[in-house]
Amino acid sequence: MITLEFMNLGKGNNWFIGIIVALIGISSLISCISTPDPKEVIEQKVDSLLSIMTLDEKIGQMSQVRHFKDIIDEDIATKLIGSVIHTQGPLPGNNAKEWQQKFIELQKIALSTRLGIPLLFGVDAVHGQNTYNGATIFPHNIGLGASQNEELVEKIAAITAIEMEATGFNWTFSPCMAIPYNEKWGRVYEAFSESSDLTSKLSIASIRGYQGDVYNDVKVLATAKHYLGDGSTDYGIEGGNTSLSMAEIDSILLPPYRKAVLEGTGAIMVGFNSLLGNTMHANKVMITDTLKNSMGFDGIVVTDWQGYSRFGGNKIIDAGVDMVMAVEGDLDYFQNGLKDAVIDGSIQQDRIDDAVRRILRQKFRLGLFENPFPDTTLYKTIGCEEHRNIARKAVRESLVLLKNNRNVLPLNKETKKIVVVGEHANNSGYQSGGWTVAWQGVWDNYQGATTILEGIQKHSVGLVVYDENGIGDHLDADAAIIVVGETPYAEFKGDIGDGTGYHKLTLNKKHQQYISSYSQKGIEVIVILISGRPLVVTDQINQADAFVTAWLPGSEGDGIAEVLFGNYNFSGKLPHSWPKTIDDISGKYGPNFWDEDYSPLYKFGFGLTYPDKYSNNTVSIAYK
Ligand code: BGC
Repeated sequence: MITLEFMNLGKGNNWFIGIIVALIGISSLISCISTPDPKEVIEQKVDSLLSIMTLDEKIGQMSQVRHFKDIIDEDIATKLIGSVIHTQGPLPGNNAKEWQQKFIELQKIALSTRLGIPLLFGVDAVHGQNTYNGATIFPHNIGLGASQNEELVEKIAAITAIEMEATGFNWTFSPCMAIPYNEKWGRVYEAFSESSDLTSKLSIASIRGYQGDVYNDVKVLATAKHYLGDGSTDYGIEGGNTSLSMAEIDSILLPPYRKAVLEGTGAIMVGFNSLLGNTMHANKVMITDTLKNSMGFDGIVVTDWQGYSRFGGNKIIDAGVDMVMAVEGDLDYFQNGLKDAVIDGSIQQDRIDDAVRRILRQKFRLGLFENPFPDTTLYKTIGCEEHRNIARKAVRESLVLLKNNRNVLPLNKETKKIVVVGEHANNSGYQSGGWTVAWQGVWDNYQGATTILEGIQKHSVGLVVYDENGIGDHLDADAAIIVVGETPYAEFKGDIGDGTGYHKLTLNKKHQQYISSYSQKGIEVIVILISGRPLVVTDQINQADAFVTAWLPGSEGDGIAEVLFGNYNFSGKLPHSWPKTIDDISGKYGPNFWDEDYSPLYKFGFGLTYPDKYSNNTVSIAYK
């Protein structure tokens, strides 16, 4: 261990670096003998390394780039890059082995520099390692919010960490800890719940699952995002302004962050939004005073996409941002701009040291200096049966039964003829939403996933026919399972805005028609809703015999059939209150269950189980 550190840090350098490196080695040796506090050991290593870094090396550490477009590989060394991000864009390779190889090559370039500081490889693995076609894709967070199951969420994050490492990554930009106030926001599904308490509980579980023991066996770094008020902007606009009172900010938005800091989250990402009119990226009070000084956060504050050029350049560094997503042409602008500011004194050297100390601290905690490369034995874990079993369990637990007239559910497996209706029933891209294989998701089936239709076919022993376009040519069926909902979107592309855009908070006419045409024919109608948020579907709920909201279940569509056919009971509870009409949402903020005047169609925490007893099956509202 010590020898490796020695080699990494001292490679091809002068006697001075040699002495510092030797000191790091000796401190490690002393540490081993007296078993000192691992936290202190890391701090000593960080200080030693920081003391020999040049300004260029420090600014390099603060730079995060994409492995394509922003740089050519050699820039890792010449621009002394600290981190590489992979989101959409050219893939690093054709399979997991090639992805790892690409990142290993980049890591080797970083290790060949004067100080040999390893790179962090970041990815938006927000519901599984969702950038890799073939990975296990879990329900989006809103579905996990319905499960209320911390243990499950921790396990899911731990599996995601394994599949991330299998494809070469050591840092995820997850969990999203937004508290969505308005269903018009395009990122409602990335958040666990409108409840601050439930969000805290599940976020902490998620961070724990990703990171493991931060001082012992960290797996991948987690990122709590987007600090602060991303989900509570007026009218649900991505990157808009949050105008809650300070009391609400303190009692609803901040608690999940306080808990995430205590849990040791490695990073926190600042949001695109403003808070009370102040852009979050440049908000010194919230970043430095509140997060770092008052809450004691000792990890990395990272910008969001192009944060430096979008939100005021060096103002964001002064506010306390430590690492910059210097993408889309921002790299030179950032590196030169910051260097000039340090030289002319407008940014203090101490501020730079604080940023770099935080970045190095996380790299030491991850054990990257000892083990800079991913484990090459992990490929076989990607999308393996064990992981998919957990994902299927998560699907089952995320389903919320909103209506079950005459106990039409559970369906008898021997039902003679079931017609499955709608294009959403046989499309794993649709059932998985945004951030699946591509940033905006995919509109087709992807590798390894099981569709809802396939699940029904697997579990039924009767005849299952498929009416993809709802033309209604199976009116002799005993039951119709009609799958309707939203098509994939991510970020601002999912915002509803003034309602004139592509996405709506109601079902499109075609989907409304599927339900009305079958419900008039005396067939038992079971509706499955696929959506990233509660939609206004009051009429459709009235027309259906049974109504299940399935959120965005991910790759294991057969988890739905397992509950419909009664192999398992429903246990999911609404993580959001459910609107009755569009008017519920058209105001500045959408339905909020803490608002006493609001009477939703279903309250937060509602969810039926078998057998159908409305009065006995709502949970008491234990969260705020
Ligand atoms: C999103 C973040 C994401 C980042 C990197 C941004 O546009 O807001 O949530 O982590 O991109 O892909």
